[in-house]
Amino acid sequence: MQIGCAQLSEFRNYRTLSWSPAPRLNVITGPNAQGKTNLLEALGLIITGRSFRTSRTAEIPRWGTETTTLAGELLHGQTRRIVRRTLTRLEDGTWQSTGEPLPEWARAIAFGWQDLEIVNGGPSTRRTFIDGFAGRLYVNHIPTLLRFRQILARRNRLLQQRPYDGGLAERLEPWNEQFATVGIELLGRRRKAVAALQTELARVYATLSGARSKVEIRYRTSLGEASEPAALLAALERSQREEARRRQTLVGPHRDDLAIEIDGVDARAFGSRGQQRLIALALRLAEILPVSEAAGTAPVLLLDDALSELDPAARGHVLHEIQSAEQVFLTTPDGPPVNGATVVHVNGGSLDPA
Ligand SMILES: Nc1ncnc2c1ncn2[C@@H]1O[C@H](COP(=O)(O)OP(=O)(O)O)[C@@H](O)[C@H]1O
Ligand SMILES: [Mg+2]
Repeated sequence: MQIGCAQLSEFRNYRTLSWSPAPRLNVITGPNAQGKTNLLEALGLIITGRSFRTSRTAEIPRWGTETTTLAGELLHGQTRRIVRRTLTRLEDGTWQSTGEPLPEWARAIAFGWQDLEIVNGGPSTRRTFIDGFAGRLYVNHIPTLLRFRQILARRNRLLQQRPYDGGLAERLEPWNEQFATVGIELLGRRRKAVAALQTELARVYATLSGARSKVEIRYRTSLGEASEPAALLAALERSQREEARRRQTLVGPHRDDLAIEIDGVDARAFGSRGQQRLIALALRLAEILPVSEAAGTAPVLLLDDALSELDPAARGHVLHEIQSAEQVFLTTPDGPPVNGATVVHVNGGSLDPA
């Protein structure tokens, strides 16, 4: 798929902007703090309805404004869909986001160097990564995740309520079954997502590094290979006492992690900084093929400063890897990294053609 044109009004440091990007590689260049990343964020919002930068809608509107609008034309083969999203400030000061439903084939994959945390941060960054990817593969994944979070919060509230004595087991009981059913559904899709990523990750990492190192990813859960709600239910029962003592839910997919290994050792503990960087980028680029297969069209790539931390050889490998993509947006503070790319300069919230 592609984005044919984008219109921004009162978005971050953009007053108004109307831009028709090119197919293939668009390079967005310009000095720091001019609005390169903001523009990528806007494109992502038009395509997916969400910001890859923040979950706080209030950060997005241009400071001092009451209404932000984003509109765009999404193209998929002969299909053309206009989409529009409006952020409005309500009387109570909160922001409301409205817009018509997005086409079911619309997908974007965003990369920025904060993604290094997937490799060297805590387990929750890896869960967020795999949930984001699974959400691009399976339409039900994010609704399942939200449902799971509700049940988990409910369960934890009960565990925190006083008195946490004899009556606790009875109070938890009605929630346990739902927790187990929805938890296993979540776990199953995360496992499928990891399996879908595995082969591409190994291939992309080898391509980017130009070396034979092997990168592997595995789903890690205390439930082992179990795939039935009964197994999670039994684990809940086993940890009942400990849960009452610590007053939180101790087993389930909210405690799981991904193992990311390079040549058989933990990449977080033993990977060099350079290896970790390439793994982070490879994780995003490895999403492209499975997401294309699931959506029936190639996702738009939003790569924020992706070349900056790499050596010249790796830069070349990245450009080679993305050259067949339908549409890519790449920000860079330096000049165009490649001949044939369409280049725009960002300057204080407006675009000058190169
Ligand atoms: N909601 C907002 N309203 C107005 N300006 C904003 C808003 N959010 C960020 N900015 C400004 O946008 C600029 C950063 O833009 P960004 O796209 O991150 O720059 P870069 O070109 O370095 O990627 C900063 O000057 C920041 O002050
Ligand atoms: Mg930036």
